[in-house]
Amino acid sequence: MRQFISKSANETIQLGKKLIDNLPKSYHVILLNGDLSSGKTTFTKGIGKALGITSVINSPTFTILKTYQGTKTLNHLDLYRMDGIGLDFDLEDYILDEDAISVIEWPSQVEELIPQKHVLVELKWLNETDREIKISTSDGNSDWIKKI
Ligand SMILES: Nc1ncnc2c1ncn2[C@@H]1O[C@H](COP(=O)(O)OP(=O)(O)O)[C@@H](O)[C@H]1O
Ligand SMILES: [Mg+2]
Repeated sequence: MRQFISKSANETIQLGKKLIDNLPKSYHVILLNGDLSSGKTTFTKGIGKALGITSVINSPTFTILKTYQGTKTLNHLDLYRMDGIGLDFDLEDYILDEDAISVIEWPSQVEELIPQKHVLVELKWLNETDREIKISTSDGNSDWIKKI
């Protein structure tokens, strides 16, 4: 596990970018845990940047999945409003796609669909500008995290 203190939205974007720049090929699912406004979507913008995605990544109301095309496909899932939504597609197909990077905000909503091997990013609001960001892996392999 590694802990970072981000002092601005831009720093959080850079951290998301560096995570992907250093991510071993064997990981393709990234879970983002943290309260509203902790910076999950901001972090995802950095992930998009690393994948060469130029369109704006945001969290539009009532959209729980958006897919972007970059050097790899990015599946951005925001499951905050998932309760009570009848899904007319199979989320699992997106999460299990090993050729894509899947980033999941509010992953506890789909606990049973999360692959055993994943990266966990825990974000915490400290004050208007500061966030604590912890990065770890489900299998405890953190050598690559040291390079972030
Ligand atoms: N250090 C920081 N890291 C991330 N976001 C920050 C930071 N400082 C301020 N912010 C602001 O906090 C808000 C975070 O929103 P967002 O990324 O959508 O959070 P979430 O997806 O967790 O609800 C944005 O308005 C962002 O500009
Ligand atoms: Mg969000």
